[in-house]
Amino acid sequence: MAETTDKKDKPQKLEDLPGVGPTTAEKLREAGYTTLESVAVASPAELMEVAGLGEGTALKVINAAREALEMSWMSAKELLEKRGIVGRITTGSKALDELIGGGVETQAITEFYGKFGSGKTQVCHQLAVNVQLPYEKGGLNGSALYIDTENTFRPERIMQMAKAVGLDPEQALENIYVARAYNSDHQMVLAEKAREIVQEKNIKLVIVDSLTAHFRAEYVGRGALAERQQKLNRHIHTLQKLADTYNIAVVVTNQVMAKPDMFFGDPTEPVGGHVIGHAATYRIYIRKSKGEKRIARLVDSPHLPEGEAVFRVTMNGIEDE
Ligand code: GTP
Ligand code: MG
Repeated sequence: MAETTDKKDKPQKLEDLPGVGPTTAEKLREAGYTTLESVAVASPAELMEVAGLGEGTALKVINAAREALEMSWMSAKELLEKRGIVGRITTGSKALDELIGGGVETQAITEFYGKFGSGKTQVCHQLAVNVQLPYEKGGLNGSALYIDTENTFRPERIMQMAKAVGLDPEQALENIYVARAYNSDHQMVLAEKAREIVQEKNIKLVIVDSLTAHFRAEYVGRGALAERQQKLNRHIHTLQKLADTYNIAVVVTNQVMAKPDMFFGDPTEPVGGHVIGHAATYRIYIRKSKGEKRIARLVDSPHLPEGEAVFRVTMNGIEDE
């Protein structure tokens, strides 16, 4: 068949790329570049560093990987087709799902921000459970990777939520890969290494709770702001690449600044400001209401109207009002 012949000519593995011998392939694999996809989305500098390639070769290798995957310019129609395979994960609340266009999207970064106790971590736990549900129940039949920076991941809570949606609690725990990030550098490395297990473990959701806490604690004062933003920018870029390359949803949390570190500005401004603002596809501000009630507001969405939704944090997890 024509199809098979076509495929034969195309690079299938790293060694098929021009300029990549067995040694280079090995170095790339060791650094986590195991697939053509991962090479195609790498920067020349990354490949130069991990495989000792010259700039010209690095570029050639990346371009060859891109060609093999037909990752060049996309027409709007192709883009629409690619968007067609976007998956969605239910939050557990229909109102909240509707607010964000039908649930948390793959190929996108969704940021939940708000004060302490607003429910950000609860939403993350719920999504880590719900991603495991079958499609018809609002899941993606996948597993979750949870980067926990504040040591607030609670397996017991997962089990409670899993039971409530009809999943086997033990099984639900097995499908969540948790890594504790001890500082911002560690957090960045964990995100970079995520691609090593994303395909193998059928990860459909990557959570970073909290995205900014370490950065905020480590880079203090005006002098450190530029470096903090630069690193945060790189970290978000890694996450976006993961989302795009593997068609997964990335969910991050962020606290609002109690004391704005600028003279002017809204005191409910999320940490990280415009760096995250430009990168996150969806930003949702959560605030506490009476008792279990929470109010979510969609902020700055490119194609959805701004609005609010009310949900509850109950014993069962995230639910409608
Ligand atoms: P920070 O990380 O401190 O910024 O806060 P957060 O936004 O992550 O808050 P979190 O998601 O931890 O929300 C905590 C709130 O969720 C609590 O005050 C409770 O109202 C609720 N909550 C947490 N666990 C449970 C639970 O097991 N049962 C019930 N009913 N509510 C819970
Ligand atoms: Mg939290």
